Amino acid sequence: MRHFLDLLDWDGDQILKLLKAAARMKKGLLKGKHKPRLAGKVLGLIFEKPSLRTRVSFQAGMAQLGGEAIFLNGTDVGLGKRESLPDIARTVSEYVDAIVLRTFQHDNVVEFARWSYKPVINGLSDYHHPCQALGDLLTMREYFGNLEGRTLAFIGDGNNVARSLAIACGKVGARFVLSAPAGYRFDQPFLEMYQTHIRGQLEEIDDPVKAVTGADVIYTDVWASMGQEAEAKERSKHFLPYQVNAELMKAAPEHAKVMHCLPAHRGEEITDEVMDGPQSIAFPQAGNRMHAQKALLLWAMDA
Ligand code: CP
Ligand code: NVA
Repeated sequence: MRHFLDLLDWDGDQILKLLKAAARMKKGLLKGKHKPRLAGKVLGLIFEKPSLRTRVSFQAGMAQLGGEAIFLNGTDVGLGKRESLPDIARTVSEYVDAIVLRTFQHDNVVEFARWSYKPVINGLSDYHHPCQALGDLLTMREYFGNLEGRTLAFIGDGNNVARSLAIACGKVGARFVLSAPAGYRFDQPFLEMYQTHIRGQLEEIDDPVKAVTGADVIYTDVWASMGQEAEAKERSKHFLPYQVNAELMKAAPEHAKVMHCLPAHRGEEITDEVMDGPQSIAFPQAGNRMHAQKALLLWAMDA
């Protein structure tokens, strides 16, 4: 079954093939072409956390491909509360052709996929956000033409987005630099897994100024992710020197682009000036979520 829970099993060629398919479809769409390759198919979305981009981009993408999407709020479904995860997975997958799941513990996605009769796509868990990484690589490829040899400097929390991006970059030969305060860097099991299985160029550089020097992309994300709201105040104390602002951008190459998975907490991890400045590509980046995911849906449903 074609589950997409993380990018660990994907190789660089497979990722590039998907990005090329996404770019072709995007070009076609701009010319007004829609091929109903998923006509008659139904995508189920079960989200335990809020979402704008992931939800709308999957729903719109599915509509463009001629299919339908059904959105289910995790609270209504009561994942593991009203009903057990295996029972929900086996029931929902009787109705739909693929499921996008957004949840807290990554183990929930794994468990859901284990029981589902249909492909499961991870629409964000506490540990991975692989759909985001696909859209981001598509964006980098669009702006730079190539991915191999490029450097992405992630200034902020070593979180779900950072992990998926580090894996994705490693797979396509791009260098990934994480600049985060102590206590918020990549966890040891992740680093060990990365060294054993990914063997990409991963570096941790404490000083954000040094980290952005020579970077093609300066990337950031919120300091407190969904589910970590209670830690927000404490976290912001540690992360303040890691704000992506005009001062930090002076240390980055002129050609560097600024990316953010969004939603942004403006004035915290990024200033308005940088977010809305000439180097920011955050909104075309958000747009590319849909194009990458359309290619992913075709792959998952083998269309
Ligand atoms: N970047 C992202 O996944 O956005 P949403 O949380 O709005 O889906
Ligand atoms: N790291 C963020 C990403 C949101 C798209 C979170 O998990 O809340």
